[in-house]
Amino acid sequence: MAQLIVSDQVLAWFKNHGRHDLPWQQERTLYRVWLAEIMLQQTQVATVIPYYQKFLKHFPDLSSLALASLDDVLTLWAGLGYYTRARNLHKAAVVIQQQHGGCFPENFDDVLALPGIGRSTAGAILAQALGQRHAILDGNVKRVLCRYFAIEGWPGKKAVEKQLWREAEACTPHERLVDYTQAMMDLGATICKRSSPKCSACPLQAGCEAYATQRVAELPTRKTKKVLPVKTTRMLIITDESGAVMLEKRPPTGIWGGLWSLPEIDPDENIENVCMQRWGYSVQVIEDNPGFRHTFSHYHLDITPSRIIVGNSANCVQDADKVIWCASGETQSRALSAPVARIIDQYAQSSPKT
Ligand code: ADE
Ligand code: SF4
Repeated sequence: MAQLIVSDQVLAWFKNHGRHDLPWQQERTLYRVWLAEIMLQQTQVATVIPYYQKFLKHFPDLSSLALASLDDVLTLWAGLGYYTRARNLHKAAVVIQQQHGGCFPENFDDVLALPGIGRSTAGAILAQALGQRHAILDGNVKRVLCRYFAIEGWPGKKAVEKQLWREAEACTPHERLVDYTQAMMDLGATICKRSSPKCSACPLQAGCEAYATQRVAELPTRKTKKVLPVKTTRMLIITDESGAVMLEKRPPTGIWGGLWSLPEIDPDENIENVCMQRWGYSVQVIEDNPGFRHTFSHYHLDITPSRIIVGNSANCVQDADKVIWCASGETQSRALSAPVARIIDQYAQSSPKT
């Protein structure tokens, strides 16, 4: 039997079954491909497209992005989530302005050195914008390779990842890098999906080890759950009589850096005292809501949302850079962390149950 060459199979499939009209496939400049790859790191294509177009309209080139304020960048990112990506994007634009004369670098090590860009993203950018030969290994490609070669072990583990990179390199062809890179991502996203992969429509089926040995469902090996520490916090949904919510700006670094957030207090603290001491507010109504868990990579955060109505918000002077009162309906356009957006959606719009 003739040897099955992964890239040949995948490229032949891509011609008729891959995606060819995505906005970042139209005019493949380094800037446009970079922006797309960052947005696509943790967000699906369908969600990314409108954000991508809106972002490019505001920041059509690198220098406009470098000159923008972080606040403006975060606001355009509002709703996409994983805001570290937006902070790094902005930081990288400034670095490119300062260290590369405003031109996106074309050298792999220079690209890899930029904030927010790992080995796979650097390869994906240079392969798609310039046709350079680099392997990629994002979550989709990891899944395809784990199954095709029946690689055991959680792909986040160093040794497994190293093996995956070796296979990814070996599979990468020496030409047609633009198509091959997109094709592997498309295959992972549309055929070799996490659940119910469409093996019957897969161009790699004939050589796929997981398929041959009926291990598709158990590969890639799942991560063993580790026990994470639990922290607790109370988030205050402080509203005035009109229903506007008070938001505080988080410090620029750390968790949810630079995002608008609800004020937090220790769950054991007395709400009335804190409101009076921190802001001079007199509390009229307190409504405790059911708590929920938000999990970060390194800990669980158990959040109790407490809704507070204050009577005298208009009399208290606040620093407008750090505190805003956000009218109901206006919060969607603010850069909020996922749990804060959820709390506001759930509670701030409705009348309190008293
Ligand atoms: N995910 C990451 N990069 C992508 C791309 N270029 N097209 C579709 N999905 C992607
Ligand atoms: Fe993935 Fe199935 Fe194709 Fe194997 S045959 S690569 S498991 S879709």
